[in-house]
Amino acid sequence: MKIDVFFTPAGLSPSDVAGRSVVVLDILRATTTIAFALAGGAKAVLPAASTEEALRIAQNLERDDMLLAGERRSVRIPGFALGNSPLEFTPEAVRGKTIVMTTTNGTQALIAAQGAREIIVGAAVNFALVVQRARAALEQHGDLAILCAGRERQFALEDAFAAGRLAKVLLPEGGLRRVEVNDGALASLEIARHFGERWLRALRASTHGRELAGLGFRNDVKACAEENTHPVLPLYADRRITAHRPPNEG
Ligand code: MLT
Repeated sequence: MKIDVFFTPAGLSPSDVAGRSVVVLDILRATTTIAFALAGGAKAVLPAASTEEALRIAQNLERDDMLLAGERRSVRIPGFALGNSPLEFTPEAVRGKTIVMTTTNGTQALIAAQGAREIIVGAAVNFALVVQRARAALEQHGDLAILCAGRERQFALEDAFAAGRLAKVLLPEGGLRRVEVNDGALASLEIARHFGERWLRALRASTHGRELAGLGFRNDVKACAEENTHPVLPLYADRRITAHRPPNEG
């Protein structure tokens, strides 16, 4: 069994993700926001690499069914309907909509994971379902990659903590003796050991968490730290993120 953690998509090569199950984490805030959007009834989220690409994708969609969302420097892109604050993505705002989204790091990480067998969009708010799906991938294929969005091609504490929380929960009985891990996974496990289950503490300690609080997004940081408030499993395939529905739900 093998678990790898990558702290940023910078330097990731296609073979790091090819044919694997990959969990993408951008806890502050893109993957949390995507979970809010789909739990709120959005039809799909379409990640775009740039503002220009988002506008291009949007042109091919029915105007009434579509919303543009995204941030630069954590603030809504001018002319876009929504920013990247999960609290904006209420059911009233997003139900039935296709959301074209571009963010500084989160959507880049998702795009970098293309080529994977399966891409799971992970956050604290949907943690239990992510664990369940990642465990199934490990049982079936013996392998999992966890990709942190990081910040501007660098390490981000909140994502590394989440990766460690996930890796820890997934460790088989017998722990590290029974699983092959890369250095990223080992380091993330140490970070998770330091913070325990205290998501809010880890998020508040991070540079991004402190910056968001300074910009007036303190409630976002809190919302992003709450486990299992939005039980939805977003999967990214064919350039669309949609909520996975177990077969028996139709
Ligand atoms: C990102 O994708 O860079 C982040 O989600 C930034 C943010 O907090 O808006």
